[in-house]
This record gives sequence, structure tokens and C-alpha cells, in this order.
Amino acid sequence: MTTPTWKNPVVNWIDYRLPIFTFTHHSLVDYPTPRNLNYWWNFGSLAGILLVIMIASGLFLAMNYQPNTDLAFASVERIMRDVNFGWLLRYIHANGASFFFIVVYVHIFRGLYFGSYKAPREILWILGVFILLAMMGTAFLGYVLPWGQLSFWAAKVITNLFTVIPFVGEPIVQWLWGGFSVDNPTLNRFFALHFLMPFVIIGLVFLHLWALHQHKSGNPLGVDIKGPQDTIPFHPYYTAKDMFGLGVLLTLYMFFVFFYPNFFGEPLNYVQANPSSTPASIVPEWYFLPFFAILRSIPDKLGGIIAFGGAFVVLLIMPWLDRSKVRSATFRPIYKYVFWLLVIDMFLLGWVGGQKPEGWPLLLGQIGTAYYFIHFLLLIPWISRKETPLPVPESIASAVLPESGTATQGASQ
Ligand code: HEM
Repeated sequence: MTTPTWKNPVVNWIDYRLPIFTFTHHSLVDYPTPRNLNYWWNFGSLAGILLVIMIASGLFLAMNYQPNTDLAFASVERIMRDVNFGWLLRYIHANGASFFFIVVYVHIFRGLYFGSYKAPREILWILGVFILLAMMGTAFLGYVLPWGQLSFWAAKVITNLFTVIPFVGEPIVQWLWGGFSVDNPTLNRFFALHFLMPFVIIGLVFLHLWALHQHKSGNPLGVDIKGPQDTIPFHPYYTAKDMFGLGVLLTLYMFFVFFYPNFFGEPLNYVQANPSSTPASIVPEWYFLPFFAILRSIPDKLGGIIAFGGAFVVLLIMPWLDRSKVRSATFRPIYKYVFWLLVIDMFLLGWVGGQKPEGWPLLLGQIGTAYYFIHFLLLIPWISRKETPLPVPESIASAVLPESGTATQGASQ
């Protein structure tokens, strides 16, 4: 890799002492990237941009928000009506959460389809699952802040789950609440933690990218980079491709912000929290629904929590459940179909999560939950042993260049 000599003397002076420009150049400009990445590889950078948008919009909201049970609801209404462009900030933040989850779910399923979790990217994947958990925690904390009916009751229902822990469950819940019910101290600490968590996520993303750069990106063929003929520099090829993806994302995102800003929301959260009036049904945000369905599909509270936790454990151990040497589902005739069964199962669970846990939706949820675990714990290990993969190309270049890998045009080094 060539070390750029900076034309600007100030940049040169700084870079000699702290090579921040050289580092950025190596990571974002001449960084050798597989030449065959498709659009599914856009979602990581899109997630990063959404994280920045969430932090920026959240910061300005925090300047006008009051974390006090008497004032929180009214302060959000004031943001919507009186603060200059407050409505825009709030809709960007609220819809941004939904788009962040859409982008990250696509990013995860991209990883599952193309075997991105396999060696040597196991730690990269595990960090990703931790990011997902941190995102869920942050979204839950944030949803409580407007102090609407669903904010209050979601906080109550979810924190109450801790009571199932033998002996210490009750004290833990009181410690979380900061008292004997969800009240002002709860709102205060939720606000403090909601402000903190995105920075924890930034730290995790930093490690995630460090692990990514250690072994470079995977690619749709799932074969390793064999030489410079397999790569192209990140800039301008993937900066341009990422900018196109960003344009599409922002168009969709802003369509919702400006035309359907409450599409992902619940009308009930426009009613101020009332501890003495329990809503008929308490529905979490859509991005929690598949996991909420798993939680409720077991009739026993503790069993439900174990299943809920287990849903993430199986994701964490996926690199060891799947023993297939072939990464990409393109060359895995059975896994390819089973992957889509999991996608259907997640949509099914998502639907069930929004229904009352009774009758046939409950039964469907139980079937969906059973499939989820059968998929990871039985089907994946079994298929990875039994399946005969299709022939995998020698290298990226041999698969995508006409002269079977001999051409080096556009290679990075
Ligand atoms: C804030 C959330 C996240 C950000 C900002 C982020 C960022 C990125 C970026 C920029 C890349 C490289 C580009 C790409 O491959 O799309 C990447 C790759 C990757 N991410 Fe994430 N990520 C996030 C969450 C996750 C989650 C939740 C998982 C899995 C549970 C995950 C798993 C992976 C894997 C396995 C790769 C390597 C893919 C490959 O090279 O084949 N990431 N991530």
C-alpha cells in the first residue's frame, strides 16, 4: 500500500505526528475491496449513516425534552408544535429508528445468506449480534421517553419480566425502577441511558469495522481474495455505489417522514401515560415483534424469557452450528431454500407478535418459535453435513472476468 504524501503542508504536519489522514486514506480510499460486491453490501455503510442521523437528531431533541413525568409528554408536544422544525427532528428520529432496524435486519440476513459469519469473521458477526442487542435496548429506552400510554405500559411489562429471576428478581426490578413503580426516577435513568447507549453502539461498531478490515469484506461468491486481480479500490468504486444506495434510502425514509410520519407509530402513544388505566393491548414497536412472539409463545413466564434469550444465543453460535466449508448460499442447493424458510418464519412471527396471544395466532406463534429453533439447532448442522455443494469458482477474478482471472485492470495494488 502506498503512503500518500500530502500536498497541504498543514495536513502533512499533522499526519506526521498523528497519521489520521493516512489511516483514513487506507481505510476509505485505496482500501482493497472485492470487485464483485453486490447491493446487499451497501447496508453496513447505510446502517452507519443512520446511526449518525439518529445521534444528531437525538441530540437536538434532548435540548428541548424534559425527563420528568409531569413535563415529558408536554415537552414532546412542544417540540412538535413550538420548537422551530421540532416536528421534523422528531419525525426524523422516530422514523429513523424504524429505518435503522430495516437496514440492520437486511444486513443480518445478507450475512446469513452469504455465510459472512463463517471463519475468519466469527468475531465480526458476534459483535454484530451485540450491536443488535444494544440497538434493541436503546430503542426500548427511547420509546419510554415521550411518556405516552404505550411508553409507560411497555416499560412496566418489560421491566416486570425480571421478577422471574428467583430470590433477586423483585429487588432487581425495584433497582431498575428507582422506586416501587415506574415513575419519575425510572424516566430519569431511562433518559440518561438512552443518551449513553448510542455511544456504546459507536464503540461496538468501531470494533466491528476493525474486525472487518482485518480479513477484508466477504463477497457474494464467498471465496477468499487471492490477489490484487480480485480487488478494486474502495474509492471511487464503492463510495459511488454507497452514495447511490444512500440516495435510495433517503428517498424512502423522507417519503415516510414527510408523507406518512406516523405510519410506524401507534396512536395510543399520543395519549399521556396513565398508571391507573391499562390499555386493552400493549403492542411493541414492529422491530420487536418476532422476538416478542417468541417470548409469548411459551405459556410460562420464565420459559418465555429463556426462549427469548435463546433466540439470540443461536445467532451468536451460528458460526459453529453451520459446519459447511462453502460460505455463499449460491452454491448450497439446500441451505438456499432453508434460508428463505427462516425469512418467512420471521415474518410470520412478526405478524403473530402483533396479535393477542390466544387462539390460532398463539398456536402459529408456537409453531413459528419451534421452527426458529429447529432451523438453527437441527437443520443448519444437519444440512451443513449432508449437503453436496455446487462447484465453487477458484477466485473472484476467475468468476467475474472474461479472461479467467488474468486481467488486472482496475486492481488496487
Ligand atoms: C449499527 C449497526 C451496524 C453497522 C453500522 C454495521 C456496519 C458494517 C459495515 C460498514 C460493514 C461493511 C459493509 C458491508 O458488508 O455491508 C459491515 C459488515 C458486516 N457486518 Fe455489520 N454493521 C452493523 C450491524 C451488524 C449486525 C447486527 C450484524 C450481525 C448480527 C452484522 C454483521 C456483519 C458481518 C458478518 C459483516 C461482514 C460481511 C462480509 O464482509 O461478508 N453487522 N458492517
